[in-house]
Amino acid sequence: MKKLFSFLLILALLLSASSFAFADDIEAPGSGPADRSAIVSVEGVPLIPLNNGVAVPQLGLGTQIQSLERDASETGRALLNSTSHDAVVAALQAGYRHLDTAHGYFNETGVGQGIIDSGIPREEIWVTSKLWPSEYGEGVTMEAIDAMLDRLQLDYLDCIYLHHPAGDYVGAWKDLEKAYRQGKVRALGISNFDNWPEAFSAIVDGMEIKPQILQIEGHPFAQRHETRDLAARYDIQVECWYPLGHADDRLLNNEVLSAIAEAHDKSVVQIILRWHMQEGLCAVPGSTNPDHIAENISIFDFELSDAEMEQIRALDGGEAGRYFNINYEQMGGFFTTLNE
Ligand SMILES: NC(=O)c1ccc[n+]([C@@H]2O[C@H](COP(=O)([O-])OP(=O)(O)OC[C@H]3O[C@@H](n4cnc5c(N)ncnc54)[C@H](OP(=O)(O)O)[C@@H]3O)[C@@H](O)[C@H]2O)c1
Repeated sequence: MKKLFSFLLILALLLSASSFAFADDIEAPGSGPADRSAIVSVEGVPLIPLNNGVAVPQLGLGTQIQSLERDASETGRALLNSTSHDAVVAALQAGYRHLDTAHGYFNETGVGQGIIDSGIPREEIWVTSKLWPSEYGEGVTMEAIDAMLDRLQLDYLDCIYLHHPAGDYVGAWKDLEKAYRQGKVRALGISNFDNWPEAFSAIVDGMEIKPQILQIEGHPFAQRHETRDLAARYDIQVECWYPLGHADDRLLNNEVLSAIAEAHDKSVVQIILRWHMQEGLCAVPGSTNPDHIAENISIFDFELSDAEMEQIRALDGGEAGRYFNINYEQMGGFFTTLNE
């Protein structure tokens, strides 16, 4: 009995050590406020280990509300923030522990207040935000990180992304590395860098600290295999934005997905999100509807069969299946200002 107990204890120690093992060439985050992080799995959402040893909840809430972003008046921004606040409170109370915001969504104050009002300890939540290219550059970016923390009322972030591959992303990354070493951020990310190979390589091959996450558009109509293979070569986790194709009717009414949904007594949205999970992708579906928010996390009580996964894989339309095709050569200038 004593031997069995010792064996189980050693096994438990080995398993817990292995979940914190990280790649030899990736520096762990420095000591600082981020040390307080204490994220656990809630509602069955898996925790995915990243290349630096920290773990991210695989499913999160996307908080961008594009329809409300256009009104930059004080009243418009207040509505945007209060709507984001309420969505964040609903999500955290439903069991979400991963939130995705950005300076460019103009809602960080609402998201930060929502975290406080949810009653869920901040340390139990993975909070991501993104820097806009107008904030890139050595020194400039460090100030922008501190301003971001102020808007969110936080003293550390779990992940900070460079939102777009434009402007001085190399200078920005140097400041992100400093913030990482100071324990102000637990993981670093690049968003949309799949659209600009030169920028991808400048960060991934050229900088001291490698990214942990790459955020890209991804859903059953654009499964992004080439980009996912590239990320896998660098041990970078892929997280999908527009995981529901921005609620495009063609996707949400697709016949194959509808038949699978019927077979499992689930909605098409739940089938799509379950597909993301079984593909090993992180996903941040956006919603401001508390019923949808609850529905979208109720995906850990069933499994898609191999045949169903294959049926969904066959829906891939490659790059042509993307909703947001952007030409960075033409759009570069657009990213260097932020319409505050
Ligand atoms: N890095 C980037 O450049 C980038 C770009 C775009 C987005 N993002 C991030 O990715 C997140 C997700 O993108 P997204 O929100 O635009 O698109 P999405 O998640 O693909 O779709 C959101 C849409 O789906 C609807 N929806 C959600 N759950 C539903 C359900 N159960 N049944 C029916 N409809 C449902 C939502 O409406 P309701 O509100 O009515 O539920 C909303 O209209 C954003 O919020 C943002 O955080 C990042």
